[in-house]
Amino acid sequence: MEKWVHGETHEFIDWLDTDGNVINASDGGIIYAEGKYHWYGQALRDLPYDHDGRRNGGVGITGVVMYESEDLLHWRYEGVILACSDDPESELYAPMRFERPKIIYNEKTKQYVLWCHYIRYPGEHGVAAGQGEAGVAVCDKVNGSYRWLGTTRPIDDLGAVRDCTLYKDQDGSAYFIYDRDISTVLEEMNRCLYIVKLSEDYCSWTTEYRRIESAYHREAPAIVYKDGYYYMITSGLTGWNYNQAKYFRSRELLGEWEDMGDPCIEDTEHTTFCTQTTAIFRVEGREDCFIHMAERHNHQHSFLHCSYIWLPIHFGEDHTMSISYLKEWTL
Ligand code: DGJ
Repeated sequence: MEKWVHGETHEFIDWLDTDGNVINASDGGIIYAEGKYHWYGQALRDLPYDHDGRRNGGVGITGVVMYESEDLLHWRYEGVILACSDDPESELYAPMRFERPKIIYNEKTKQYVLWCHYIRYPGEHGVAAGQGEAGVAVCDKVNGSYRWLGTTRPIDDLGAVRDCTLYKDQDGSAYFIYDRDISTVLEEMNRCLYIVKLSEDYCSWTTEYRRIESAYHREAPAIVYKDGYYYMITSGLTGWNYNQAKYFRSRELLGEWEDMGDPCIEDTEHTTFCTQTTAIFRVEGREDCFIHMAERHNHQHSFLHCSYIWLPIHFGEDHTMSISYLKEWTL
């Protein structure tokens, strides 16, 4: 690719890797390591619906894959870094899901740590134990074969884990942010974003957490820090369907998060430009260049042809953020 091409907001455009294959790295993120950007995500399947009407292309049989690039445009496939298993006894027995995988590096343990929203075979969402957990894996190389450490439910076993992200703060502490689902326990659709501080090795959670009350019924979180404020972009709860983005800001990760409304400019249909947030990354060597990664999920036709929509984030002097649509662009 010579530039990022998005087309019109209803269009689906494939991005190809350096072998000419369609890039398939859903809802992941980008980590810069060893002089290169590494883009990872869950490999989806080509099924819009299976025989009983379920959207099974989102249920993985491959795992988490990775691509590398020096310029964010030319992506070379690096392979599967966390694989589904064909062993029925394995927790990773396919079809299952590693949804929204995120990777951060721990300087103390010298390990890359991956957290995801894990859904066991046959990939059904649910709140019962085993159906919506946080999954954790580690590796001493960014693009190596990640070792599965197992699943966990932060805070307590009552809250199932849904969409999630990781955030590594300037002081090296790290946080797991997730949509905690306690629907069956208290009431139907009782879901809210929570932020939980991780242990020093990033492999488990501590008892320090906050329920982000203002982010009730929000998912797809992504966090960025700029000039004294943390900003978190989220979507509403409509599964793979687009909805209106909303962002929050706070001076402290475990503090109170203020509802700041929709960051999208001239998004006339209020659909986040027909996308859902994936992650935010900073361009190396450019202090103020942050890119909002989002995905135009193609669940009605083919999950293999989702579109990646990467847009620059603009920060206002009044500590606000905004995103405008670009049909194509480069740095
Ligand atoms: C809701 C998420 O936000 C989507 O990205 C996708 O993961 C669906 N869940 C899958 O059901």
